[in-house]
Amino acid sequence: MLTDNFGRRFYYLRLSITDVCNFSCSYCLPDGYQCDQPRDFMSLQEITRVTKAFGQLGTEKIRITGGEPALRKDLPDIIAVCKQTPGIKKVAITSNGFKLPTHLPQWLDAGIDAINISIDSLDPRQFHSITGHDKLDTILKGIDMALASGKTTVKVNAVLMREYSGYDIKSYLDWLKDTPVTLRFIELMQTGDNLEFFNAQHVSGARIKQNLILDGWQPVIRDRSAGPAQEFYHPDYLGKIGLIMPYSSDFCDSCNRLRVSASGKLHLCLFSDQGLSLREQLQQDDIAPLKDRILSFLGDKKATHFLHDKLTGGTKHLAMLGG
Ligand code: 5AD
Ligand code: SF4
Repeated sequence: MLTDNFGRRFYYLRLSITDVCNFSCSYCLPDGYQCDQPRDFMSLQEITRVTKAFGQLGTEKIRITGGEPALRKDLPDIIAVCKQTPGIKKVAITSNGFKLPTHLPQWLDAGIDAINISIDSLDPRQFHSITGHDKLDTILKGIDMALASGKTTVKVNAVLMREYSGYDIKSYLDWLKDTPVTLRFIELMQTGDNLEFFNAQHVSGARIKQNLILDGWQPVIRDRSAGPAQEFYHPDYLGKIGLIMPYSSDFCDSCNRLRVSASGKLHLCLFSDQGLSLREQLQQDDIAPLKDRILSFLGDKKATHFLHDKLTGGTKHLAMLGG
């Protein structure tokens, strides 16, 4: 079992399969994806080995991330590989949903259990100005299809930005009345590239949380492979609301995840200095050396990130590692 020096157990792997993204979200890739080094992403065979190793080490859930994972043509095969890995009970994906109605049937056939889509505004013009793409209607149609399939849960991520706070919350609440998704408000995180944007736009989620509790929203109990959100439900709403508050003091105490980048590096934290390469061990069918290497790195995992000290490690933007 993967356990660190602080007694935290790692049931959850975030597996990035590409760092390329076709969107240019203002907090992440405002100038779009820049290809500054040759791309050398793990092959399907290497991904099969990495998931097998984690499955044997006690991982129960894999989330496939990017960049934008749907830019890889073999994404349905990757979903199927994760799904067939012994030990893995749940396969999830985080996508910008740019072609969700087209991609969804293939993902469902491959066995996807949970889909996360980013919607930073329910206003089509604002959505366009944040992401650079006029895709809100397509994404909402895809979400309706996913819900109608009955085969996958849907979560929606919305990054909190000062510019949009206030009036946008109401449109999300109206939508959640009749839409059974979990909406998670994520506090904007500083990364290597976004300091100016962060300083101008970061807002705490604390006020939203207070207002939800005052309005009768009640906390949902977390399971052991759950994400970091504090989730709330309300009897009058089909949807739930979560808050991801990485700047709150106890955020890292319940860390249950590890990350592997598209180039096959283990990242012990979203904001660690650099990844630890597993690439050599991924070249052979025998996964014992791979498991040993993962276990040997784990002792270096720190108690918390250093975002409070404005230290963002080697993470220039979250497209590098899929959040
Ligand atoms: N701060 C907070 N959330 C971010 N995301 C990307 N960059 C940041 C950031 N700097 C979100 C995306 C997506 C998820 C993977 O992470 O919007 O929903
Ligand atoms: Fe936006 Fe995600 Fe692409 Fe970054 S990786 S630009 S957050 S869609």
